[in-house]
Amino acid sequence: MRVGMLTGGGDCPGLNAVMRAVVRKGDHTWGDEVIGFLDGWRGVIEGRTRPLDVAAMRGTLPRGGTILGSSRTNPFKVDGGAERCQASLAEARIDALVAIGGEDTLGVAHRLADLGVAVVGVPKTIDNDLNATEVTFGFDTAVQICVDAIDRLHTTAESHDRVMVVEVMGRHAGHIATWAGIAGGATMILVPEEPFDIDEVCAALKERHEQGRFASIVVVAEGAVPRAGTMAVASGEVDQFGHVRLGGIGNNLAVEIEERTGFETRVTILGHVQRGGTPTAFDRVLATRFGVAAIEAVHDGAFGQMVALRAGEIERVPLADAVGELKLVDPGLYHGVAEVFFH
Ligand code: F6P
Repeated sequence: MRVGMLTGGGDCPGLNAVMRAVVRKGDHTWGDEVIGFLDGWRGVIEGRTRPLDVAAMRGTLPRGGTILGSSRTNPFKVDGGAERCQASLAEARIDALVAIGGEDTLGVAHRLADLGVAVVGVPKTIDNDLNATEVTFGFDTAVQICVDAIDRLHTTAESHDRVMVVEVMGRHAGHIATWAGIAGGATMILVPEEPFDIDEVCAALKERHEQGRFASIVVVAEGAVPRAGTMAVASGEVDQFGHVRLGGIGNNLAVEIEERTGFETRVTILGHVQRGGTPTAFDRVLATRFGVAAIEAVHDGAFGQMVALRAGEIERVPLADAVGELKLVDPGLYHGVAEVFFH
């Protein structure tokens, strides 16, 4: 078969590992020819490709990012975009497409599947907010990067009796913040799912400092929001999928905390460091399992489906289930575990 493949949305450690698995399994078992589309859906619209064979994938297992490039292009927001995608798949004689991406990329895959495109999805996002799969690759790596940073911030915070605000990724869901905060021993974790009250945050920090424990680590997801009317926040540009460019809540929070408590406060925005570099062993294995399962799904004709991790096993789920709604932080984990340490 001639199998097309693309990576869309924000990059994520493990993308190359998925593609390597698709190529190796496809070549070895069925003699497939794999064609990579460059820069996500943009490369499909524009018909820009490169061959992906076993040699091309050599050495890519531990490499972060994506050798295909990525974009946040939405063909349904481009004039004639969906038709151009179909035409370019036909021109490249693609029998089936493997789309590796998050909610947005797979949302497009789902719509194209409805138009008759033979597509299989692979879930990807460091945010881990994709429904229908227990976890996405890249999340474990991102959390580990945050925990390493938080561990380092503890010692400098203690030396100076400071509050350290650590802003992590997580636009709509606070999975990274919650996991990194629990693993890093944070004093406070603020997530998009639970609008925070700045007065309560400051009161908790004051109480902690009055008890003689001076250094505090406040982990805040970039998408965390204050309760309505309690604190001003800035907003940024919007992309083709309607997402605002975030980054800034950490700075706002640090200013407010210092003003309201009088404690010296510093902010660290981890930003894209969380998405870069080599995937953890867990993410390499998960990505490899997803890649093998995706090419098997292609050969079974399981189009309009996505591979997913459920109860430790790789399963197939309809793309519709993956993109219908986001997976948010389990309230049991946030209130029942993380919150125990908020003081
Ligand atoms: O891919 C998800 C994500 O990492 C979000 O956590 C973050 O808000 C966004 O991407 C950043 O996007 P960009 O790399 O386009 O600035």
